[in-house]
Amino acid sequence: MRELPFSPVDTLESTEEFPRFWTRETLHQVVERVLQGYKLIVVSNREPYVHRLEGGHVVCERPVSGLVTALEPVMRASGGTWIAHGSGNADREVADAAGRVPVPPEAPSYTLRRVWLSKEDEQDYYYGFANQALWPLCHIVFQRPVFRTEHWNAYRRVNRQFAEIILDEVRDLASIVLIQDYHFALLPRMLREAQPRLLIAQFWHIPWPNPEAFRICPWSEEILDGLLGNDLLGFHIRYHCQNFLETIAATVEARVDEEQSCITRRGRTTFVRPFPISLDIDAISEEARSPVLAERAEALRRELGLHGQRIVLGVDRIDYTKGIPERLRAFDQLLQSHPEHRGQVTFVQIGAPSRSRIPTYKALAAELDSLVADINWKYATDRWTPVIYLDVAHSPQEVLAFYRLADVCVVSALHDGMNLVAKEYVAARPDLDGVLVLSRFTGVARELEEALQVNPYAVDDLAHALHLALTMDASERRARMAALRDTVARNSIYRWAGKIVSAMGRIAARRRFEGTL
Ligand code: F6P
Repeated sequence: MRELPFSPVDTLESTEEFPRFWTRETLHQVVERVLQGYKLIVVSNREPYVHRLEGGHVVCERPVSGLVTALEPVMRASGGTWIAHGSGNADREVADAAGRVPVPPEAPSYTLRRVWLSKEDEQDYYYGFANQALWPLCHIVFQRPVFRTEHWNAYRRVNRQFAEIILDEVRDLASIVLIQDYHFALLPRMLREAQPRLLIAQFWHIPWPNPEAFRICPWSEEILDGLLGNDLLGFHIRYHCQNFLETIAATVEARVDEEQSCITRRGRTTFVRPFPISLDIDAISEEARSPVLAERAEALRRELGLHGQRIVLGVDRIDYTKGIPERLRAFDQLLQSHPEHRGQVTFVQIGAPSRSRIPTYKALAAELDSLVADINWKYATDRWTPVIYLDVAHSPQEVLAFYRLADVCVVSALHDGMNLVAKEYVAARPDLDGVLVLSRFTGVARELEEALQVNPYAVDDLAHALHLALTMDASERRARMAALRDTVARNSIYRWAGKIVSAMGRIAARRRFEGTL
């Protein structure tokens, strides 16, 4: 192979095409320049718009998802196609025969193409292989993965079904395919074999485990080979990239270049890079400052009887990776060891139900009910309920109102790719008040160094961190929150998307030089 006239994809930050502060506008410009002449196809399991029947009417909802917020500006700027599972009960009603629907509904600028899955495939691919095998396998929270051949077969079948629909969208057009997450590990290879000229990138939103943990998967080689169909594979943090390189070196025949962080197999190279996902701090801060939100927060305080209370808040999907029982036990411990907080502090846990068809998720929901009942039984008085547990989905505005009320926000995930709740809380506090207690086993802990970082398995330490947070003086709270906000502002969601798009631009240039595009 001829020597390349530039280094592949790792010097992006130092080039002039890389702005220091990314905004929606700079992202728009970069997308227009880099994607010129290419059709953009985004693929995810969750769709960006869901149509549901409510009271005889079709309503369109936007799922609460960092992924949707991140990719919408890219889609709007490129006018491409987003391919996803059509999961709403009115999705078919509004789509054409091929499953296409123009979105956003109020001002269409790109196409959503829905993929229809049978109930059996949804059960075995999504609830089965994706969420009972890969999810626990990658998170390593001592939840044993379930490996069933029928789940694996459905995972393969659904990946194939998506591949065919993507190829139908691509036809002969020069295209960039951006695949999201662990639902589609086999898809890159399927696409690469059918269309060698495609540019393919994937972002893996969950952790990647060490080789020892990963090798228990009976289909490990097929999964790794599938992922090496990508030109670019992204993780949130460098540690997960490193784990992936080591897993490849230990499992399949391929040349691993640690220096360049890339892998070459069968003459094709996959670059592996960290892209820490984020959010739009300016948009969230502006909403958090609005008088409407202040009113909503005060209304919540009244409705929940929180007058005069300090509030510790947890916001999560109900998932065993989030460390919710550990946090409740820590709160119990806090009330034991520091009785001065009794009657003064209320723990509010918002838990959005999730994947509730899976037995481990049902068991967790029951465990949480019982823990909350125990704590309230032990300490409640006529005038004070220690724990308020709201196990229903809340709108983003509602969650923002809770962030405004929270003196302390606790993120105690046992392992997490990133965890956007931590960044949301910081974004929601332009008043510079509030303390973040954060598990050091989240990807976000690498960025948010000024949070009170804890090991969530160590219940006493977590209880102590809650005590420190509740007794921290105002000047320290302000200094920490200002530093956290500065970090989140620099690393915005537009930077995340912009870095991926720019890296794909560099890879396209490299492949043109090699003659493979
Ligand atoms: O963290 C990985 C992820 O897929 C996120 O992208 C998403 O917000 C979350 O899990 C919830 O996933 P689901 O689509 O299963 O509700």
